[in-house]
Amino acid sequence: MTLATLPTGLILGIESSCDETAAAIVERGSAIRSNVVASQIATHSPYGGVVPELASREHLRNIVPVVRAAVEQAGLALSSIDAIAVTSGPGLAGALMVGISYAKALAFALGKPLIAINHLEGHIHAVLLEQAQLAEAEDRELPDGPVLALVVSGGHTHLYLARHTGESWSYRNVGRTLDDAAGEAYDKVAKLLGLGYPGGPWIDALAAHGNPHAVPFAISNIKAKAHRGGRKGITSYMATQEQDEHLSEGSTAFASGDDLQHEIPDTLFSFSGIKTAVLRYTQVHEMQASIEHRRAVLATMPDAKPSTALAEVLAVCDQPTLDLIASFQRAVVDDLRRKTFRTAEALGATTLLVSGGVAANRELRVRFTAEAADRDLYIAFPSLALSTDNAAMIAAAAWPKFLSRDFAPETLSADPGLALGR
Ligand code: KG4
Ligand code: ZN
Repeated sequence: MTLATLPTGLILGIESSCDETAAAIVERGSAIRSNVVASQIATHSPYGGVVPELASREHLRNIVPVVRAAVEQAGLALSSIDAIAVTSGPGLAGALMVGISYAKALAFALGKPLIAINHLEGHIHAVLLEQAQLAEAEDRELPDGPVLALVVSGGHTHLYLARHTGESWSYRNVGRTLDDAAGEAYDKVAKLLGLGYPGGPWIDALAAHGNPHAVPFAISNIKAKAHRGGRKGITSYMATQEQDEHLSEGSTAFASGDDLQHEIPDTLFSFSGIKTAVLRYTQVHEMQASIEHRRAVLATMPDAKPSTALAEVLAVCDQPTLDLIASFQRAVVDDLRRKTFRTAEALGATTLLVSGGVAANRELRVRFTAEAADRDLYIAFPSLALSTDNAAMIAAAAWPKFLSRDFAPETLSADPGLALGR
């Protein structure tokens, strides 16, 4: 490679898997040169959730100006970029296709490599990106030892054992939800209580005004056996593990080729039950009239956000509603905390990375941080801006793949159900 063709390490990331059209330029996986996110909240808000057809239409509208803004903000010419990274899944098929088609066309036109990124790996790199910045600024590295990553968002609640070998990262899935993701539960509960979309930030803000012990919700442990559905490496050993209180979700003996000295857990989450429990509670306690009143008031404030309209929304939330919200949040955060730390212990993890939209939750951050301190576990979250969907995390995740020349074929297409790791 001549000096003139040496890569500068600039990667343009493009993200369009759900309801944000995003583009960012990140240098060498850590320095954010620009980060642009066009949110579709106003489009989906009247429906209380993401409408896939509308999401595709909005991505089509936004993709060109968003990429242009990312390039301009970075003060660069498109030709100085070394590669284009794009989310190839999981996500909404039509939404993913918009980003992929645009990234492919751009890569072809510029003669630059295309890198396909799993959205879930992107979320993990949102934390790693900022940890790399810390490492550079303060000479602070992640501790040695196994890394456990919790990705908790509107579409996902997954635990991964992450391993760093040379430049690249590999993942093993050690936990998942059987039904709703944690963020989905936040959104659905907010909707049924007449609150705005997305529900997570509203519940986060309102929960601080309620009593988290008022309603005793419990999210039960789930036995793994009935839900194993074809996962490999399960032995009759499972039957005894299910009786083990310590690892009640079950585990498998470590598979050959793994250098782990621990059993590999298969931690199961489930959040659809608590949503039904909240609905039932509102029915039994005849909260419907107050919910409808709140819904009507919020319908007149389509752009309301907790940062701008908390007082107005608090004024239409009675104490039983605030107590219900606080109790719901406490139950979800407690369940995530209990199962995540139990998995970390089972794996002998020394580091815990927490990312995804729900990682923005204040109570979650406080409670996870306190427990990590008790257990002497290193914990890291992304900054708030990088917790929810963005393209900086996609560009950062692409850096190790760029170094190992792990480029996408011209035939790359959307994979809505794309899994991460084994
Ligand atoms: O990562 P993300 O932007 O998109 C997905 O990949 O799903 O996450 C969005 C989810 C939504 O369900 C939203 O309600 C939730 O993250 N969320 C929060 C908070 N901020 C966003 N949940 C709880 N507390 C928050 N502060
Ligand atoms: Zn996401």
